[in-house]
Amino acid sequence: MDISTLLMECSLVAMMLYAAYGVIYRLYLSPIAHFPGRKLAALTFWYEFYFDVIKRGSYVWEIQKMHETYGPIVRINPYELHVADADFIDRLYPTVAKNVEKWSWSAGMFGSTAMTFGTVGHTLHRRRRAAFSNFFSTTSVRRLQPVIQSRIDVLCERLSEKMDTGEPVNMVHAYSALTQDVITEYCFSNCRNVLEMKDFSPWYYELVQKPSELSHMIKQFPHMLTILNLLPDWWVRATNPLFSKLRAQQLEYVSQVQSILSYHDETGTKSHSTVFHSLRDDDGLPLSEKSLPRLVMEAQSLVGAGTLTSTHMLSMTTYHVLMNPPILSKLMAQLEQALPDASTPCSLQKLEQIPYLSAVINEGLRISYGSIHRLQRVHPDNALTFRNWTIPPGTPVGMSSLHMHNDPAIFPEPRRFDPSRWMGPEKEMRQRHLFNFGRGTRQCVGMNLAQAEFHMTLATIFRKFGTKMQLYDTVRERDVDVKHDFFVTNPSLDSRGLFLKNPSTFTLSLVEGSTVFSNSIMHAAPTGALTLSGIVIGDVYAHQISKQLLEQGREIKRLLLLDSPRP
Ligand code: HEM
Repeated sequence: MDISTLLMECSLVAMMLYAAYGVIYRLYLSPIAHFPGRKLAALTFWYEFYFDVIKRGSYVWEIQKMHETYGPIVRINPYELHVADADFIDRLYPTVAKNVEKWSWSAGMFGSTAMTFGTVGHTLHRRRRAAFSNFFSTTSVRRLQPVIQSRIDVLCERLSEKMDTGEPVNMVHAYSALTQDVITEYCFSNCRNVLEMKDFSPWYYELVQKPSELSHMIKQFPHMLTILNLLPDWWVRATNPLFSKLRAQQLEYVSQVQSILSYHDETGTKSHSTVFHSLRDDDGLPLSEKSLPRLVMEAQSLVGAGTLTSTHMLSMTTYHVLMNPPILSKLMAQLEQALPDASTPCSLQKLEQIPYLSAVINEGLRISYGSIHRLQRVHPDNALTFRNWTIPPGTPVGMSSLHMHNDPAIFPEPRRFDPSRWMGPEKEMRQRHLFNFGRGTRQCVGMNLAQAEFHMTLATIFRKFGTKMQLYDTVRERDVDVKHDFFVTNPSLDSRGLFLKNPSTFTLSLVEGSTVFSNSIMHAAPTGALTLSGIVIGDVYAHQISKQLLEQGREIKRLLLLDSPRP
């Protein structure tokens, strides 16, 4: 046997021994080997990979099945435990400043641990969060209420136009435009004005939604982004338009932050102070924390976090209210009482005191989950006790809102949207089980802003358009229910969004050359306002139709004459 063959055989044996040791260690010697769960999950990350990457964000439902089989604490991968018992929340996520960390393996799932959201260590996290948390306090949010209101007013104008023409509106895009405009104004004093763009620019929604789809892959293969970033622009442009737009957006953030860091962008700050100007001017923050790459990551994370979660909550709540006419009527009655004049904005403080609006928001939060991904914490210094179990120090442990919000013992008939569960004496107890914003020292920093957006947007939209809005081509299973965990919740990938339309308008597409359309319209159009759009041959027909309709006492909202060559 020659030396190279001998070396190869020795390497092979060494590798096999190493793999065998790995198997034995993970299954029998690991400090969490005695916790219940599937052996395959304990043995390899490929189990999680299969559910989260191949089956697109579905491990959380597999974890739920594990709990049904093995009980409230399970081992879900070689290193991590998962708990389904709300009584454990306060121990896992303490609110007092204790040394609690994020798990480095998953903290970088959005491409970096440089932003506050992804920070692993406790002390660094406290410093980063303290630098901007004031901006999101109740007082700051109340002070900046006009910023939010001005964007809601634009949304209403746009909705009004679309409602008048009877054009269906994709509310996912509309709410995404609203929340994105608010957070960009808040952060940079440079509103993105997506609300003004055609159809609320679906691209801007994709640009925050798609990276969340990639998060599981990045968690499993953290170097994937570095490799993707090395690809030349021309190649990316030719093969993947979305990734190319993501790059362009990244450059937008770079120039935005750069101009603030170099004092070239001071105009906006006259109207209100902003997150990034204040980070720049914070003397307590070391220079390393003010570097361009770190602040760009922070900007990206704030805009993403401030857009997607609120969008999903607003969309799902809108769907469920409109699907339940008694809930809609009750909400509208309370809003009419509190806001007798629909055109005058109401203070946030007053909106927060409308009991049924708050109940609808709580139920919307419950049914939309926030993030259903498990929020892992590591307690490096001390063991945690869960019932009869002792969790060794340093073990990543997570919990998910999916299990808490669907617990029938706390929320009977969890699939039912029922705001009345928030009106009785059990409200306090149920509130403790709401986990949308996480808990403890890493709880969502933007929750006051999010709550302000929910109160102001839902109150305004339902007060102004309540009965004018009807769901259109929207199916709960496909477009509303959460089907994927991309850290942020996501409906089925087949969904095109949540569509609304004014039921009293009727849009008819007319075929060029049609000579019988006036009679068809008479048959087809429901009572109420009528909008015609399409190609009409000659004004003469349009006039005939309008005349006939007016004679019948029907209201014509708008008659669109698109391309009308005379015969
Ligand atoms: C419905 C709306 C929202 C939901 C459900 C939500 C959910 C969450 C959750 C669950 C966390 C904790 C993550 C963890 O423990 O690992 C979090 C953190 C965070 N959220 Fe939100 N969020 C919402 C709105 C916002 C808004 C409007 C902002 C804008 C500023 C924001 C910014 C952040 C930031 C910066 C963190 C990291 C906080 C930290 O690590 O200290 N979120 N969010």
